[in-house]
Amino acid sequence: MSRLQHFGWFLSRGFGPHGWGHPYYEWNHRWTSPELYQQSARTLEQAGFDLVIIEDALSLGNPDTLDLRIRSAYGGPKHDPLLLAPYLFDVTQHLGIAPTVNPLAYSPYQAARQFATLQHLSDYRFGINVVTDVGSSRHFGVEPVGHDAAYDRAEEWLGAIRSLWHSWGPDALVADPRSGHFADGSRLSATRHRGGYFEFDGPLNALPFAELPGAGGGDPRVSGAGRTAASGDPVVVSPGGSGRGLNFAGEQSEVQLALASLDVETIRAYRAKVLEAALAHGRTAADIDILFVFKPILAASPEEAQRIVDASAHPDDAVLAQIALGQSSDLETDLTALDLDKPVDPAIFGDHVSRGSIKGLLGRFDSFADATLRELLTAKARLGRIASREGYVGTAEEIADFIEELGEEAENDGFIFSGDLHPVTVHRMLDELVPVLRRRGILRSSYGSGGLRGNLRDF
Ligand SMILES: Cc1cc2nc3c(=O)[nH]c(=O)nc-3n(C[C@H](O)[C@H](O)[C@H](O)COP(=O)(O)O)c2cc1C
Repeated sequence: MSRLQHFGWFLSRGFGPHGWGHPYYEWNHRWTSPELYQQSARTLEQAGFDLVIIEDALSLGNPDTLDLRIRSAYGGPKHDPLLLAPYLFDVTQHLGIAPTVNPLAYSPYQAARQFATLQHLSDYRFGINVVTDVGSSRHFGVEPVGHDAAYDRAEEWLGAIRSLWHSWGPDALVADPRSGHFADGSRLSATRHRGGYFEFDGPLNALPFAELPGAGGGDPRVSGAGRTAASGDPVVVSPGGSGRGLNFAGEQSEVQLALASLDVETIRAYRAKVLEAALAHGRTAADIDILFVFKPILAASPEEAQRIVDASAHPDDAVLAQIALGQSSDLETDLTALDLDKPVDPAIFGDHVSRGSIKGLLGRFDSFADATLRELLTAKARLGRIASREGYVGTAEEIADFIEELGEEAENDGFIFSGDLHPVTVHRMLDELVPVLRRRGILRSSYGSGGLRGNLRDF
């Protein structure tokens, strides 16, 4: 029997115009209505996936790159994914939903209250993907902080939220219909928070969470901003790939959304860094799942896979321009105006740009001095066969071999498939792959009853 792994879906372009720029946009799904996402969420649950993570950006970002972001709908418009979550919960029973949230946008009290509500409404299936981008600070009337300080703020924010969630002591909820006694006010903690970034008073007026057997988590009695997660708390996901980001994941997260080259050595090294940080904060490998972003291209046969790879070998300037546009939107940095035949000056990337995304642009190159922009973009355009480990194009069996190998040899916890949450994309990726993964015992075929956290702790 193979090693069971966890699978999730990263809705990589957020709650926006899904399918735009692709022929499947003509299916006439309205991206602004919930049916498009509900249909896909049902399919992912049927497939045995653990969670959907929904990308987000708080604004259209840097005024200089507005047009780059909306011209092809790469970076906007985007609706708020937190408000999409209840529609997805409504049509599923087991799937976890983790919208992206930025501590910049929510006071801890408001966040604690809204997230607690969603955790109850979803029967413990809610999570938050915590990001620290500061590019939208001006829309919220706050001064941008530096890269690492944004992580410090996020840690204080999460600790404060957890304190509010646990401002109801273990015996505060009485709920005894015979005596008519609902709750005991003497068991509530005032939760007075005075930190470097936030100041507020509790307690929270939301119902406390149940302790879920089998869902793990830290000691719920720890108080203050250093509080660790308890078993009933919403799940924390994080995607930051910098050293500071990996340390944050080790200390705070139940899921790390990892972006890296998918080979045994890189996965082992990435896992080692996150797990080292987890151990340093008194946690264990069982407390966190490190799930790698994966975007395979499914082919019907090895011959078709080879044809797809061959067709990508010599991208023309129009293809490179399209890739440059997508990268410019992600990096909030205009690459389209740069000379294709010169190296990129790394100084063009502001402090707010994700280190992980910059590494993503570099790909297999060690530094920007090693390649021209044309070479960087050409490397992005070129596809390779998964069977030879040169890329991610392959048949369902070949892709399953790859997933199985990384589970066995790199102790990989699982993968996050990335793309639109459009039924065409989901079916194209999963219709043939899911049965193969199930047959090999890599993908679950049933869920437990511990909510999202319980599902993550099942194996
Ligand atoms: C795979 C991946 C997904 C990300 N998703 C988002 C997102 O949805 N919204 C966002 O604002 N930042 C997102 N980020 C950026 C980072 O989380 C982050 O907030 C930040 O810019 C610092 O990241 P760093 O530690 O990689 O430097 C993502 C990064 C990666 C690698």
